[in-house]
Amino acid sequence: MRIKYTIYIVFFVGIVIIEKENNIISRVSDKLTSKQTQQTPLHPSGFLHTLQKVNGSFLTLSKLKRRLENCSEHQEMMIRGRKHILLLATTRTGSSFVGEFFNQQGGNMFYLFEPLWHVEKMLTLDTGGTNATAAAKAYRDVLQQLLLCNFTLLERFIEPKPLEHITPALFRRESSSSLCDESVCSPVIKGVFERYHCRARRCGPLNLTMASESCRQKEHIAIKSVRVRQLETLRPLAEDPRLDVRFIQLVRDPRAVLASRMVAFTAKYKNWKEWAMGRNVPIDEDEVRKLKGNCDNIRLSAEIGLRQPPWLRRRYMLVRYEDIARFPMRKAAEMYRFTGIPFTPQVKAWILRNTQASKEASGVYSTQKNSSEQVEKWRFNLPFKIAQVVQRVCGPTLKLFGYKFVNSEKMLTDKSISLIEDKVLNFF
Ligand SMILES: *[C@@H]1O[C@H](CO)[C@@H](O)[C@H](O)[C@H]1NC(C)=O
Ligand SMILES: *[C@@H]1O[C@H](CO)[C@@H](O)[C@H](O)[C@H]1NC(C)=O
Ligand SMILES: *[C@@H]1O[C@H](CO)[C@@H](O)[C@H](O)[C@H]1NC(C)=O
Ligand SMILES: *[C@@H]1O[C@H](CO)[C@@H](O)[C@H](O)[C@H]1NC(C)=O
Ligand SMILES: *[C@@H]1O[C@H](CO)[C@@H](O)[C@H](O)[C@H]1NC(C)=O
Ligand SMILES: *[C@@H]1O[C@H](CO)[C@@H](O)[C@H](O)[C@H]1NC(C)=O
Repeated sequence: MRIKYTIYIVFFVGIVIIEKENNIISRVSDKLTSKQTQQTPLHPSGFLHTLQKVNGSFLTLSKLKRRLENCSEHQEMMIRGRKHILLLATTRTGSSFVGEFFNQQGGNMFYLFEPLWHVEKMLTLDTGGTNATAAAKAYRDVLQQLLLCNFTLLERFIEPKPLEHITPALFRRESSSSLCDESVCSPVIKGVFERYHCRARRCGPLNLTMASESCRQKEHIAIKSVRVRQLETLRPLAEDPRLDVRFIQLVRDPRAVLASRMVAFTAKYKNWKEWAMGRNVPIDEDEVRKLKGNCDNIRLSAEIGLRQPPWLRRRYMLVRYEDIARFPMRKAAEMYRFTGIPFTPQVKAWILRNTQASKEASGVYSTQKNSSEQVEKWRFNLPFKIAQVVQRVCGPTLKLFGYKFVNSEKMLTDKSISLIEDKVLNFF
């Protein structure tokens, strides 16, 4: 009996010692890593041999080896905790609003608003679409470079071509407070027309070298895009040892998205409306195919994200627009917790100013009800027949995200029936 206990105790003590040793090893390795970058390459073979004898933890040792063998400035940044956030959405999902959660973070964050707009524009074919394969590759490469604060590749897609890294034409520059910072604000040049100019201060055309330098100074970087179709195409970014990427996928009820599109592009959907009113016009099959394609892409991306394959582990978060609209403060806090970046008072203040979250926090239910009214306005604009079309082609997508099907006009417009199921969508 005694011997048995003694063995256990020795075993536990052994584990404790090994654990302690591991901590020391990782601390030593961190120190070495941060010191080494400025110096000539270190050849720590003797050191490694000594450690190998300990072999307390295979993980720590291999990590240490990798760090010593492959030290670069970017890896050092990653070790320091630099986060690379990609906010991925589709149009009309409230992504500009959610992007502000990061844009408003303050001096720590370099935020870019839709840089891929230029890429899509240049790759648009005469047919009006893009070659999806070619576009996906270009999006991936440009995002990867931008996350490393390198604008060189993006420059190739900006029209007119930047001269000496200066452009007056960066799409929606003013939507990125980082690009209108003092440090990125060059003197105004008379006679240069700037379609997208800073509002916070008067600045001349954007000097992308300055932008890149400013980006490197910031602790974190966030990019919002509605152009990436499939999350899987960004896998190389998650696996890039220079990056520590966090993907946030923002989704919204496809019926609401379509309702919003029908308001924005009235002419395009004229036939749909007439068809819904019972007139004998054919519904545009091409648009139906596109709708299905979009829903399928969004669902496939989310399915991969929620499955959490090793390359995405702890890197993926799914957010529903409807939850953000109803509980902006709570959801913003969750998003920040997921990214591992402090949720600053600036962001909180911005959310308070721009939503009714103050009342959410104090638990006044009328506010929540009001917000859900806003969120569910589409239910009174979208003809039931069209809601049925969306349910037919986007059924699995609705199901996955917890959007309830409606089976009658009455149910569609019955405010007492919520179409948003409470659903736990993340496992990180
Ligand atoms: C130490 O661990 C590695 C695996 O990382 C193994 O290949 C090696 O044989 C171990 N060395 C000793 C001395 O146990
Ligand atoms: C070192 O980094 C380069 C690129 O940054 C990568 O291709 C290579 O596989 C890395 N080597 C190791 C041992 O991690
Ligand atoms: C799309 O681009 C890829 C490579 O960029 C090319 O191989 C393919 O032929 C293109 N597809 C079409 C339909 O043009
Ligand atoms: C930026 O990327 C380009 C290739 O796209 C490369 O030639 C250049 O050296 C990079 N710049 C920096 C500062 O790393
Ligand atoms: C752009 O900014 C860089 C870095 O601050 C500077 O060296 C360069 O001269 C600027 N370019 C122009 C044309 O002002
Ligand atoms: C609901 O909220 C909107 C702003 O989001 C506000 O204009 C409106 O007055 C509110 N309605 C009620 C009944 O509180």
